[in-house]
Amino acid sequence: MRLLTGVQASGDLHIGNYFGSIKAMVDAQNRDDVLIFIANYHAMTTVQDGDRLRSLTRQTAIDFLSLGIDPDRSTLWVQSDVKDVLELYWILSSYTPMGLLERAHSYKDKSAKGISASHSLFSYPVLMAADILLFNSDIIPVGKDQIQHVEIARDIAIKFNNAHGDILRIPEFRVDSSVATVPGIDGAKMSKSYGNTINIFDEPKKRLKSIKKIVTEVVPLEEPKEFEGCNVYNIARLFLDKEELRDLQARYKTGLEGHGHFKLYLADVIESYFAPFVEKREYYLSHLDEVDAILHNGAKKAKEISAKTMQKVKEVVGI
Ligand code: ADP
Ligand code: TRP
Repeated sequence: MRLLTGVQASGDLHIGNYFGSIKAMVDAQNRDDVLIFIANYHAMTTVQDGDRLRSLTRQTAIDFLSLGIDPDRSTLWVQSDVKDVLELYWILSSYTPMGLLERAHSYKDKSAKGISASHSLFSYPVLMAADILLFNSDIIPVGKDQIQHVEIARDIAIKFNNAHGDILRIPEFRVDSSVATVPGIDGAKMSKSYGNTINIFDEPKKRLKSIKKIVTEVVPLEEPKEFEGCNVYNIARLFLDKEELRDLQARYKTGLEGHGHFKLYLADVIESYFAPFVEKREYYLSHLDEVDAILHNGAKKAKEISAKTMQKVKEVVGI
């Protein structure tokens, strides 16, 4: 089974990103053929500062490698290193009805808010279809917001195949419903855009500051506390096994400790969970040549797949 995903380089990763998507990709490497690319062409719809895009792109690659994407088992590359995607994007544009794009949320939501959309935002789903169809992907693991984009890719592929025969593999999306939404420090969905995140690679001191801001009930120290519904507990449970969870529940019930103690405990738990990743990241940050070589090699492997698709596609469209 081939899984493919594109990641937008968007800065600091938080534990919602990790438990909501990255960990599933890392685990999938044991079973599936995993392809991951840094979607830097896509990022251009929002980032228009060259230095910033370059640094975010590399940063994202380093973060994914540090969090367990294994370049010996998976293929990791930067989108713009495999130019076939742009050619397929253009070819697919001729098989994409305007109405399909006019209905896409990415464009519709922005225009509804009165924000003037660029052509790249409008045609973004076609580029995403090219990303997916170029590599004969079977499964596209996505968050709910991306389902429509995969459906558009399917529609385009079906139209293309109706015209030319069975050339493009029709992909399926997969939404992992077992992954609960990770709450942020205010209890709402953890998200960069809400400013309620706990970041994976923050310095421990900075992370502790975020953890101390977790909103909790006000209960006198000596009274028992509810762990159910507690934001500290709900974040901690992601990291703990059954026995550790039971111990933590007992600490809530005894009423000898306050939420401040549980926050310090959470900070320790998070720090030790991510310690090996932090160490790996430090390694990559001081071995940037190695990172570039991994990405170069990933692009080479990706091109071997894309070249085969392009050969078939160009043959039938006549270029
Ligand atoms: P953000 O909301 O911080 O901008 P993104 O939209 O870039 O995060 O999400 C990247 C990936 O992380 C997506 O697959 C998304 O489903 C997942 N993700 C983000 N926040 C959470 C969360 N709080 N809980 C679970 N998954 C999340
Ligand atoms: N649009 C996706 C996002 O914003 C990123 C992306 C680009 C992608 N191309 C893709 C995801 C192909 C899956 C498959 O998160």
